Amino acid sequence: MNQLVAMSVMRGLINGGKHSIGYARTVVRCHPNVWDGDDMPLLGLRMMVMMSSYSSSSESVPEKVKEKGENGIVPSSYWGISRPKITREDGSPWPWNCFMPWETYRADLSIDLKKHHVPTTFLDKVAYRTVKLLRIPTDLFFQRRYGCRAMMLETVAAVPGMVGGMLLHLKSLRKFQHSGGWIKALLEEAENERMHLMTMVELVKPKWYERMLVLTVQGVFFNAFFVLYLLSPKLAHRVVGYLEEEAIHSYTEYLKDIDSGSIENVPAPAIAIDYWRLPKDATLKDVITVIRADEAHHRDVNHFASDIQFQGKELRDAPAPLGYH
Ligand SMILES: [Fe+2]
Ligand SMILES: [Fe+2]
Repeated sequence: MNQLVAMSVMRGLINGGKHSIGYARTVVRCHPNVWDGDDMPLLGLRMMVMMSSYSSSSESVPEKVKEKGENGIVPSSYWGISRPKITREDGSPWPWNCFMPWETYRADLSIDLKKHHVPTTFLDKVAYRTVKLLRIPTDLFFQRRYGCRAMMLETVAAVPGMVGGMLLHLKSLRKFQHSGGWIKALLEEAENERMHLMTMVELVKPKWYERMLVLTVQGVFFNAFFVLYLLSPKLAHRVVGYLEEEAIHSYTEYLKDIDSGSIENVPAPAIAIDYWRLPKDATLKDVITVIRADEAHHRDVNHFASDIQFQGKELRDAPAPLGYH
């Protein structure tokens, strides 16, 4: 009998979420000897009912907390994850949730902007030609509208680091291996590119058809880069290295237009001043200058990542260049 009851309760627990919890309790009430016997199957049942009771009671706790919260909002400190009060160096409150003061940095403006990886191998040439080909429709579409161009290209630029980082993460799990810091380095790159986008979007508002274009391009580019990284990470990193060389070129042209006055040198967005630790009176020119330095850093990281693999090594064999930020 006990086994029959146990089996029906277990079936109920397996089949249906909250209803099964109530069902289990009902059965336990109707058959008190479920708790008394020494049958092994009942041990599992007891544990399941106890777990159900536990999850049920923990579900009800926020309701009690809610009563105490202001305006019916559950205090986040209930889970112990409330954010400590964070301030800038001058003591003013930190206004950003998307990045913290310790993630800000001063871009390395001494970086060589002219460095170029001369394509020598067949794969290098494929990467170089692919990027040059991709530039043709970009030039045709945007021409010299560099604000819009930069904003749109940053939506693409933030993809490779995330794909590469994700695939290296999975590889690390699959092979029980360290990544040599490369997961973090690539995810940092993705985040840095996303911050470029968050900055550009303060300056240029995307139109509806540009949003549609971003949707389409992201769908194609994410999948294409994902497959490319699976097939040949060294080619994927080389492509990114050349894309970054193009980004440096685009931002240099952007700066020329600011200098010539055809693009107004407006005050820097607040997010950029905090992220790159720029002076309070920084301008668009300062922002584009630090973004261009970031792109030069990405260029070096990706060409380096490709070089490692062209030498027959794995990324984890060479420590990742962490600590730029
Ligand atoms: Fe960027
Ligand atoms: Fe970049």
